[in-house]
Amino acid sequence: MTNQTSTGWGSRIGLILAMAGNAVGLGNFLRFPAQAIENGGGAFIIPYLVCFLLMGLPLLFVEWGMGRFGGSKGQHSTPFIFDAIGKAPFWKYFGVFGIFTNIAVAAFYCYLESWALSWAFHSVAGTFDGMTKIQLDHFFTSYIELGSSQPIVFWLICLVLNTFILSRGLKGGVEKVAKIGMPLLLFFGLILAITGVTLKASPGGADFDGLVGLDYLWSPDFSSIWSFKVWVAAAGQIFFTLSLGMGSIHCYASYLNSREDIALNAMTAGWMNEFVEVVLGSAIIIPISVGFLGIDAISDMVSGGSGFGIGFQVLPQLFGSWGWFGTLSGLMWFGLLFFAGITSSMAMGTPLIGFMRDNFGWKSQYGAYLFGALIFLFGIPAVLSQDAFNEYDYWAGTVALVLFAMIEIVLFAWVLGMDKAWDEITRGADIKVPIIFKYIIKFISPVFLIVVFVGGLPEIINRATKETSFYGWLGRAMLLILFVGIAILVAFAKRKLLKTNK
Ligand code: PHE
Repeated sequence: MTNQTSTGWGSRIGLILAMAGNAVGLGNFLRFPAQAIENGGGAFIIPYLVCFLLMGLPLLFVEWGMGRFGGSKGQHSTPFIFDAIGKAPFWKYFGVFGIFTNIAVAAFYCYLESWALSWAFHSVAGTFDGMTKIQLDHFFTSYIELGSSQPIVFWLICLVLNTFILSRGLKGGVEKVAKIGMPLLLFFGLILAITGVTLKASPGGADFDGLVGLDYLWSPDFSSIWSFKVWVAAAGQIFFTLSLGMGSIHCYASYLNSREDIALNAMTAGWMNEFVEVVLGSAIIIPISVGFLGIDAISDMVSGGSGFGIGFQVLPQLFGSWGWFGTLSGLMWFGLLFFAGITSSMAMGTPLIGFMRDNFGWKSQYGAYLFGALIFLFGIPAVLSQDAFNEYDYWAGTVALVLFAMIEIVLFAWVLGMDKAWDEITRGADIKVPIIFKYIIKFISPVFLIVVFVGGLPEIINRATKETSFYGWLGRAMLLILFVGIAILVAFAKRKLLKTNK
C-alpha cells in the first residue's frame, strides 16, 4: 500500500504549479522562439497548434491517466505502470525509458540551468556592463573552455540544490519551490515581455521598434506548411515543451488519489505552458534582439534552433548598455531561466525516486541522493564536451520521447482498450472532456506519432552511423549503459515481486 498522505501532493494549486513548472522550462524561452523563426515564423504556428491539439493534449490526458492508474497500484514509475497495464512481460522494459530519459536529459539540462544561475550572478555583479559583442563572445568561449573552474562550481551548486529539494519530498520540496518559482517566473516574464513589446527605436538605442521583431515572428509564410521538416520541428517542440514522452508526468500524476480530477488539471497545466511559450516566449528575446541588431543578424543566429546564443550572448550585451534597468533585466531574465530550469529538472528526478521506493523500499532521500550521483556521473561527459552533450540531447531529448510516446499510446488505447482508458481519463473529472478526444487518442495521435517517427528514421539512421569524437562515443556508450542498467534493476525488481507474492 502506498501512503498517500505522507508522499502525495499538499494542495491542488501546488500540484498545478509543479506540473506547469515541469513543463515550463528553457524550451519555452529559448528553444521556441528559435524554432519558430527557423521554421518560417508565422507559418510555424499552424503546424505547432495542430500538433498541440492532436498530439499534445491527447498525450497529456494519456500520461496523466496512466500515472494516476499506476499510483492506484502502488507504482510511481513507468516500468511497473506499464507492467500493470500490459500483461506481457516485455512492456516493463519499454517503461525503462521513463526513468532513463529523465536521467539522461537531466545530465545536460542541469548544466544549462547552472549557466542561467551563473549569468544571473554576473548580471548583478556587473560583469557584462559596457561589454562589447566581442568581449562578450570572449567571455562566453572562455567560460566553457576546458579546465575553467567557474562552470564546474555553478554546475555543482545546481546539482546539490536539485538533490536537496528532491530529498525534501514532493510537498516539502518540489511543491514549495514551484509555489515560489512559478509566480516569480511569470512576474519577471511579464515585465520583460512588456519591455520587449514596447521597445522604441531611438538615437543611440534600438534601431527598430520591438514590434518589428514580433511582426517578423508572426508574419505568415504559408509555403512552409507543406514542408515535412516544419511538421517534425513543430512536433518536436510540442514534445519538449510539454515534457511529453519522458515519464515525469506519469510520476507526478501517480501521487494523485484515484478519484481526483486529472482532466482539468492536465488542461490547466498544459494551457499555462502554452501561454508562457507562445505569449511570453515570443515577446522577449526576439523583439529585443531584433530591435537592436536587426533581423538578418538574428535569423543567422537561430540556425540550429536552440536560441542559446541570443539568450546568453546577445541579451547580456544589450542589457549591459541599459544602466540600472539593464542590471535588473539581466537578473530577471536569467532568474527566470533558472526557475524555469530548476522546476523542470526536479521533475526529472522523481521517477527514479519513486522507482527505488516502490521496488526496493528506499527512502525518498536516498533516491534523491542516487539521482544526484547519477546526474553528476552522466553529466561529466556533457560538461566536458559539446559532442557528448549533443548525443544526449538527440537520443534522449528527441528520439526517445517520440518512441516512448508511440509505445505508451498503443499500450493505453489499444492494449488496455480505449473504453477503459477513457474511463481512467474522465473519472473524477471536473470538466467534461470532449468525446472527440476519445477518437483522437485512439486513432489520430498514434498515426501522427508513427508518421513523425517513420519520417524521422532516415535522420536517425544517419545520426547513429555518424562518426563523432571520443566524447561523442563516450556519451553514446554511457546512454547504453544507463538503459541496460535500469533494465537490469527492473528485471531484479520483478523477481523480487514474484518471490514475495508467492
Ligand atoms: N518541458 C521542459 C522545457 O520546456 C523540458 C523538460 C522535458 C522538462 C522533460 C522535464 C521533462 O524546457
